[in-house]
Amino acid sequence: MRAIVISRFGGPEVLQIENMPEPTADSGQELVQVEAGGLNFADVLTARGGYPGTPKPPLVAGREFCGIRAKDNQRVMGYTQWSAFAEQTSGKTELMWPVPQQWSAGEGAAFPVNYFTAYLAYWKAGLTGSRAPGARVLIHAVAGGVGTAAVQVGKLLGLEMYGTSSSEEKLDRVRDLGLQHGINYKQQDYEEAIKELTHNEGVDTVFEMLGGEHVTKSVRCLRDFGRVIVYGSATGEKPALDTRILYAKGASVHGLWLTYLSANRQVMQEAWHQLSQWMSQGHLRPVIGQTFPMEKAGDACRLLSEGKNFGKIVIQMK
Ligand SMILES: NC(=O)c1ccc[n+]([C@@H]2O[C@H](COP(=O)([O-])OP(=O)(O)OC[C@H]3O[C@@H](n4cnc5c(N)ncnc54)[C@H](OP(=O)(O)O)[C@@H]3O)[C@@H](O)[C@H]2O)c1
Repeated sequence: MRAIVISRFGGPEVLQIENMPEPTADSGQELVQVEAGGLNFADVLTARGGYPGTPKPPLVAGREFCGIRAKDNQRVMGYTQWSAFAEQTSGKTELMWPVPQQWSAGEGAAFPVNYFTAYLAYWKAGLTGSRAPGARVLIHAVAGGVGTAAVQVGKLLGLEMYGTSSSEEKLDRVRDLGLQHGINYKQQDYEEAIKELTHNEGVDTVFEMLGGEHVTKSVRCLRDFGRVIVYGSATGEKPALDTRILYAKGASVHGLWLTYLSANRQVMQEAWHQLSQWMSQGHLRPVIGQTFPMEKAGDACRLLSEGKNFGKIVIQMK
């Protein structure tokens, strides 16, 4: 079968189409004919050899897919650690979910990582229950894959949302999804913007995926008992935080890693229970910015690593 293979660790150019052996399904797994894959920032890091637990190359890239399950011909979307970007894949049965009929394969492929991560970030922030309505959340990279999913979920939870992006054009598109306060960080320091917009009160939670100085800066954006949810370091800089800053506001910092949480059946089932309800009511729909054929996976990876994407980048496998 044809697959997008990380031939060696490096930049986007290491992603190449190769013929690989067809996968087999172990117990608790299913075979899927893949139609499309969702590209994630984690794929960029995996290609560079910078993602924890990555096996040595050559390996098939890709963490999420949509396709036809061999067992019952049902269209499913699934989450895995690699091996999604191929004509066929095998994945854990419990990490495959049915795709709504009106969705395209690309939309299915764009769902698992972004929506589970976004929902679980709200869960870690304590905002999936009665505390939510009216609470304030600052979402970094709000125009990205996780960001656009977080806006759709935040709207359903009744939150006041603030989001950062590098461009006015991207912010306008996220406003259409329900973002109330767009902050262009190229034009205004986001900490200053949050002070102004919240009358010096701050926000209840920050979704932080930039790393470097941004963890501390995000803590400074909080109001009393606020929480920063850390789940990435897209700047490539090591997160810097002096924990003494947390004392004054009774603030806290929580880690979130879908790779780890996806092994927790109860957490995933509860998240799916809520997400699938919203999906069946037509409230969630993945936002796809760009679609690439599998031959152009390197270009797709380059676009994401340069931060030029809007929403999700999808790779068509056929
Ligand atoms: N822990 C987890 O389980 C988990 C799960 C999913 C994703 N993540 C993390 O969440 C973050 C977002 O992932 P994603 O796949 O949804 O990507 P994404 O948000 O679609 O793309 C990254 C966005 O980050 C912004 N950005 C800011 N500084 C950047 C920089 N130095 N380099 C590149 N982009 C930069 C860019 O938007 P602007 O131009 O608007 O600034 C860019 O579009 C990543 O850090 C990823 O590793 C973590």
